[in-house]
Amino acid sequence: MKGDPKNLGFSTRAIHAGQSPDPTTGSVSVPIYQTSTYVQEELGQHKGFEYARVQNPTRSALEENVASLEGGLSGHAFASGMAAISTLMTLVKAGEHVVCSQNVYGGTYRYFSQILENYDLAFSWVDSTDLDAIRDAMQENTRIVYIETPTNPMMEVTDIAVAASIAHERGALLAVDNTFLSPYFQRPLELGADVVVHSTTKFLNGHSDSIGGVLVAARAAESDWFAFVQKSAGGILSPFDSFLVLRGLKTLAIRMERHEAHGRAVADFLDHHDKVQRVLYPGLPSHPGHELQKSQAAGFGALITFDLGSYAAAKGFLDNLRVMSLAESLGGVETLISHPASMTHASVPAEDRQRLGMTDGVVRVSVGLEDLADLIGDLTAALAAA
Ligand SMILES: Cc1ncc(COP(=O)(O)O)c(C=O)c1O
Repeated sequence: MKGDPKNLGFSTRAIHAGQSPDPTTGSVSVPIYQTSTYVQEELGQHKGFEYARVQNPTRSALEENVASLEGGLSGHAFASGMAAISTLMTLVKAGEHVVCSQNVYGGTYRYFSQILENYDLAFSWVDSTDLDAIRDAMQENTRIVYIETPTNPMMEVTDIAVAASIAHERGALLAVDNTFLSPYFQRPLELGADVVVHSTTKFLNGHSDSIGGVLVAARAAESDWFAFVQKSAGGILSPFDSFLVLRGLKTLAIRMERHEAHGRAVADFLDHHDKVQRVLYPGLPSHPGHELQKSQAAGFGALITFDLGSYAAAKGFLDNLRVMSLAESLGGVETLISHPASMTHASVPAEDRQRLGMTDGVVRVSVGLEDLADLIGDLTAALAAA
């Protein structure tokens, strides 16, 4: 398309933002600029590209695209979701403090508690669905309030707008990991958050063939800092992975619609099954975060956590699936199913897992885009073995 897609709809921006036809050839698809450096015309004169750790046109196209979809000022792409999160945390200096949702992705918990705490950063782990708990945890030196909503894997929903105002009253930033819903369903910056985090490995890329991460900043102060850390620490996303994520983003809207339709149907099926003790899915009216999520997001997504009551039942079920893939990760076209206690959240101490309700019978499914009848058939057969 011609011109800036800024005021156009979500799908139009997903397909066009940051992706003007290549100036040399008119290529519709942004090329993979597989280069480490750029020849300068003469000393002191170049085309805005000096060295590919700092600038790469394929990465820039992706960064501009995600920034447009999240409604942010800028995007910054990294080699993984964790590399994005570690860049975010360079905003926090030794002696400062972070308030964090008690239930976050296990790798985030591991990074904060086993690495950053060694560098004199302090963390308060709170039930962020309880806004008073966030308020009470704030300190003079709190720099960031960090939340996931819904959380991985317990599907707890936090009020983003109120969390942002609590953070701002105390001079802190609100960072939201938006990996589970994607900007198609939820845009935290519009609700007052300051930074959005994504593991692009998940729904944004959507095809389980790339690891990556993005930070989207609302303001220049954070945006400039993230660009400086990209250049200085160097944990950037490769041109090929940038291309893959850009390609995935073009179909984000229709993928998310189908993921959600399947997610709702699977949640409903599980909710009515005798062997399933509880289902955590914000799309179910019985979920405590249902109304809140309806008010702050346009959908409920495709992540469902459910409890089969024991490790033996979970193992019997998982070992007998045929269509669904027993694997870490989520957000791919294929249904990915996992056992958080022994897989994604094994780094969370057993007593904390117990306190959060992440017991040994708990299973998390990321519902994919296979035929719904095959997914329900697979669940029916495997639950018979649970
Ligand atoms: C919610 C969430 N945030 C961040 C990450 C980390 O992303 P990556 O695996 O791309 O480093 C994950 C990975 O599972 C995740 O589920």
